[in-house]
Amino acid sequence: MKISPSILSADFTRLGKELSDIEAAGADYVHVDVMDGHFVPNITIGPFVVEAVRKATALPLDVHLMIDEPEKYVSDFAKAGSDIITVHVEATKHLHKVVQSIKDHGKKAGVSINPATPVNTLENIINDVDLVLIMSVNPGWSGQGFIQSSLKKIEAVRRMIEETGKPIELEVDGGIKISNMKEAARAGADVFVSGSGVFGTKDYKATIEAMKKEALSVRAKV
Ligand code: DX5
Ligand code: ZN
Repeated sequence: MKISPSILSADFTRLGKELSDIEAAGADYVHVDVMDGHFVPNITIGPFVVEAVRKATALPLDVHLMIDEPEKYVSDFAKAGSDIITVHVEATKHLHKVVQSIKDHGKKAGVSINPATPVNTLENIINDVDLVLIMSVNPGWSGQGFIQSSLKKIEAVRRMIEETGKPIELEVDGGIKISNMKEAARAGADVFVSGSGVFGTKDYKATIEAMKKEALSVRAKV
């Protein structure tokens, strides 16, 4: 059970402090949302900021590329200090090639699908990845509501992962709060991205602990 707070909801005027606070609070990864104004309407973070984040935390950097033609930027984000680089199946014509390129840079490779993209688009790539990210909101902004139909997709991908027999992580991203951790965990997610659900609360430690407790309470029964 891992919590990956998305810094998109952090206070960027004091990002270093926000990073040390989530690290002290028990976060497992730092989720970095990269948007290019093409694949999604919004524009956010580039490799320079990732490089600064790398210097400010010891946590693994979970970099989510919501950009078209991610193959053009894998090298920059790898050099900036990313640990996991996740690309969207909708964003490239050469998914297998970009996944191999991430691995050639010595990084963990993730693939993500948007809410309306079927899980069968993962069938011919799942054996090559370290992580699958299911979007439970339409990518672009933090603070949106969780799309309930994502749960069925998480269940289906959990089954696909079991069939591979590999330790592939199943990450859910968008609208995750303490209140819906249980249903996401029950569906089979084991990495939980949360932006506003963590940074929008006062006590990050209490929030992350409560999130893990909720997820583990479901898992323990399985
Ligand atoms: C959405 C991003 C998410 C987002 C999560 O485009 O990929 O990571 O920041 O934010 P919340 O948890 O507030 O939905
Ligand atoms: Zn994200």
